[in-house]
Amino acid sequence: MHTDNDSASFWEKHYSRLDARWGTTANTVLTGLVGALAPTPGTALDLGCGHGGDAIWLAARGWDVTAVDIAPTALARVAEAARGAGVGDRVHPARHDLARTFPAGEFDLVSATYFHTPVDIPRAQVLRRAAEAVAPGGLLLVVEHASVAPWSWQAGEDVRFPTAEEALAALDPGEGWRTERCHSPRRTATGPQGRRATVTDNVLALRRAL
Ligand SMILES: C[S@@+](CC[C@H](N)C(=O)[O-])C[C@H]1O[C@@H](n2cnc3c(N)ncnc32)[C@H](O)[C@@H]1O
Repeated sequence: MHTDNDSASFWEKHYSRLDARWGTTANTVLTGLVGALAPTPGTALDLGCGHGGDAIWLAARGWDVTAVDIAPTALARVAEAARGAGVGDRVHPARHDLARTFPAGEFDLVSATYFHTPVDIPRAQVLRRAAEAVAPGGLLLVVEHASVAPWSWQAGEDVRFPTAEEALAALDPGEGWRTERCHSPRRTATGPQGRRATVTDNVLALRRAL
């Protein structure tokens, strides 16, 4: 159980202790959905980018990505990894506490993959703000945990996750959206030290009308 109630110090401490290689591979749910639903690159906003696996994968496919996180160590690693991958000019790390500030502008793709935190933040409000940042015709992707991995900070806790339909209802982006995906697929996840487990995600993909 963590006792730190400050997002910035919690996550900075987390990343300063974390192996820099962890989280540098793109999420397979995101890569599949982008391939299927947003094959033409444009501008992307990655919320809670961590070590930047998704952001760098997108940039390598031509997207211009604003990669947002609260942890300076994570953002410095994203910048370095982007340069190393030859996409430093297409990945723009940006530090925000999304509970307080949000990047300006509209984006063709806004993604939040596992934007979870043990710190109490207005997460639903952040995701609604994320929807507002989607350009007409653009896509909002939310991939979130719907089960507890054995290496999670919630391991051993009796957690009730919303169903995908409940997550969609909480997001409630209003009129002018088409639901492209709203489901809870299972996948094999790999955790620290190579541990593997079957986990469930909630996956929401919403298209904003033109
Ligand atoms: C569970 S990690 C997921 C990281 C990455 N998206 C992934 O899928 O591996 C959650 C991320 O959200 C970031 N985060 C948590 N609270 C935040 C906040 N208030 N503002 C911005 N980023 C935050 C953390 O630093 C962390 O990188």
